Amino acid sequence: MPWLKALSCQVLALVLTPLLLTLKGNAFILILPIELQPLLAVLLSRLFRQPLWWIPIHLLFLPLIGLLVQLNLPAWIYLLGFMLLILVFWGTVKGDVPLFLSSPAVSQALSTIVQREQADSLIDLGAGIGSVVVPLANRFPQMHITAVEQAPIPWLILVWRCRKFKSVKIYRDNFWDYPLANYSVVFAFLSPKVMTRLDEKCRNELAVGNLLVASTFPVPDRIPSSVISLNKKHLKLHCYRY
Ligand SMILES: C[S@@+](CC[C@H](N)C(=O)[O-])C[C@H]1O[C@@H](n2cnc3c(N)ncnc32)[C@H](O)[C@@H]1O
Repeated sequence: MPWLKALSCQVLALVLTPLLLTLKGNAFILILPIELQPLLAVLLSRLFRQPLWWIPIHLLFLPLIGLLVQLNLPAWIYLLGFMLLILVFWGTVKGDVPLFLSSPAVSQALSTIVQREQADSLIDLGAGIGSVVVPLANRFPQMHITAVEQAPIPWLILVWRCRKFKSVKIYRDNFWDYPLANYSVVFAFLSPKVMTRLDEKCRNELAVGNLLVASTFPVPDRIPSSVISLNKKHLKLHCYRY
């Protein structure tokens, strides 16, 4: 589990820091413990082959704790912050995809695809706060849209934002358990890790001719039937026909 690796890096670095500082005649003595621990954590993170984006987190973790301790905030603030993070990022601890929001450019490009396909139904797997669902429901009031989201706070925001759309059905569910057979278009903005599994699910469940639109992360080892490049670098919609 990624968080366990990250925690191990921090704890090991914390243990190693005083040990290194007590070694006689070493160069580490020139570095403050508060700087040495993050550097060791980064080193360990590279040894454990964590993705590069962990580097700033490891660098800031202990210094930020030091800063917060000095602020003398009441303990309930930390509990509140922790609870809010859990309710927003729900399954992330066990490896599920966290919340990132699609830009308006994505929903615009998806609208073009929906029009081209003459789609009468669409499902957003992990709908977040509705960054894609809400503009589509506005633009295509006749299309049946299903939004599946498991994290409580994004789901609540989604329910609130879609309260006026009769064409949108929202489920607080795990999308892996949700059948895809009835949808002309499946939209997914997830992570590279799950794309092979999602491809398998689509192969098993989608009707022939229907479309998976994968935002940003393509299905490995599969050539898409079309790719739409958006304005930003790396931002592409990969379309796969089943
Ligand atoms: C990258 S965000 C995309 C949000 C939205 N589709 C968009 O494009 O703005 C991924 C979302 O999927 C949700 N998610 C991750 N795994 C899930 C699962 N197994 N079942 C339901 N939702 C899931 C996360 O909570 C998060 O809100």
